[in-house]
Amino acid sequence: MRLLDALKSSTEYLEEAGIEDAFADAEILTFHAAGADRLDAYMENPEITKELLSKIRRLIRRRAKGEPLQYIVGHVDFLGLTVRVGKGVLIPRPETELLAEEAIRTISRGGVPPPAPRVLDLCTGSGCIALAVAKALPDADVYGTDVSMAALRFAKKNAEVNEIENVTFLQGSLFAPIQGDALFDLIVSNPPYIISADIPGLQREIKDWEPLEALDGGTDGLHFYRKIFADAAGHLRPGGRILCELGFGQSAAVKEIAQKSGFGDISVNKDYAGIDRILKAEL
Ligand SMILES: C[S@@+](CC[C@H](N)C(=O)[O-])C[C@H]1O[C@@H](n2cnc3c(N)ncnc32)[C@H](O)[C@@H]1O
Repeated sequence: MRLLDALKSSTEYLEEAGIEDAFADAEILTFHAAGADRLDAYMENPEITKELLSKIRRLIRRRAKGEPLQYIVGHVDFLGLTVRVGKGVLIPRPETELLAEEAIRTISRGGVPPPAPRVLDLCTGSGCIALAVAKALPDADVYGTDVSMAALRFAKKNAEVNEIENVTFLQGSLFAPIQGDALFDLIVSNPPYIISADIPGLQREIKDWEPLEALDGGTDGLHFYRKIFADAAGHLRPGGRILCELGFGQSAAVKEIAQKSGFGDISVNKDYAGIDRILKAEL
């Protein structure tokens, strides 16, 4: 059998399993299993061994059961970083790259970052935001916290894989693991923000595979914003900023939470789809 025959049968298998982008997913997984570059695969269409065919079938069966493509491949690209992902950690989303970029711009203040800026990434998950900031600002001291040990194992591995040393990952709820009274220049967070009752209606790749504690924002989706803004002032230096990713339709409510917690100069950036996605506020 040749590689493109395996691709054809993989596509048919995924179509029968009801996978929406059957061809695209089959292509990625088949070529990933073969360690083949896409162009070379089409040009050379090599003969494949029995072992490789079994490997391709194993990956395709996982996808047919609804496992996210990114978990099967094992990594995603996040602003040029290789971020490893798998069961137990949220897959970083493209809109979160906007949050990380805005965090880097905010701390750089038009190209002149403060000396050794301190940045805290609450709900760090895979560490994608903390790592992107730490890489862009090598003089920064970056911290990431998360309740999930499974997520933190990925975050620490991601620091290693990307050779980033100016980041420290700590386990615990929100600010709890932060010791000492040194203040931060910037707090950034993409917290769980989905309304609990909406979770059963999400696509199966999310609700059956990604960790519930990475999704569930409580009865109105705002639980974590209330907790973060209630404690943020005690951890920010005067004039320090906070940046949060927002769920759909949450910007007015989170603005109000920020105002009531003593923050000002509040602005909101939209994502690629024109949805209010990033809230920025100053102490
Ligand atoms: C939406 S995910 C964001 C992950 C990552 N920052 C990203 O943008 O891809 C939210 C993360 O919050 C973590 N989390 C849930 N409750 C938490 C808490 N009380 N304190 C800290 N992290 C928490 C989850 O484990 C999950 O990793």
